[in-house]
Amino acid sequence: MKTLVTADQIQRSIDALAAEIRRREAGRPLTVIAVMTGSIVFLADLVRKLDMPLRVGVIQARSYQGTERGSLAVNLDMLPEITDRDVLLVDDIFDTGHTLLEVISLLDERRPRSIRSAVLVLKKGKQQVALRPDYVGFEIPDVFVVGYGLDYNDAYRNLPYLAALEPQDIGDK
Ligand code: IMP
Ligand code: MG
Repeated sequence: MKTLVTADQIQRSIDALAAEIRRREAGRPLTVIAVMTGSIVFLADLVRKLDMPLRVGVIQARSYQGTERGSLAVNLDMLPEITDRDVLLVDDIFDTGHTLLEVISLLDERRPRSIRSAVLVLKKGKQQVALRPDYVGFEIPDVFVVGYGLDYNDAYRNLPYLAALEPQDIGDK
């Protein structure tokens, strides 16, 4: 496995992202909705750098088996009330974009006042939808990454940095 983004670089990027969010959202109360499970570590670091009043809720989206995309399942059971609220959707990584697009259209049905989205990582050149997250921490090349919440078959979420899986790491877990 090869380190792609160090823990320090991640923190610096979240500092910049949080400053931009504080500036643009300008003290408005936010309902932060995290897409489980990959965004847990990012969520924890990001919300501690936001100083406006905010609530946190979670939903779950699953699409991966190993390093392959499968069909997308979204679970909204734990979604708090978002009608008339300003929502900040937080996800770990923006790859094809299908997950965030689908989640936004499901949340829209609850009539929030606004929905903006923040992702830690965007994979360059992979997007298949006409949507770009409002806040992006890093852009990375098209490699499968783990760590800082991101997993390969549920492993490696606890790494404090982002690492690229190499062929010999795949299938031997
Ligand atoms: P998308 O729907 O293709 O944009 O994929 C988004 C979701 O797939 C993310 O929320 C991640 O959970 C997962 N994902 C995409 N790329 C990676 C990766 O490189 N490592 C781990 N998970 C990934
Ligand atoms: Mg995810």
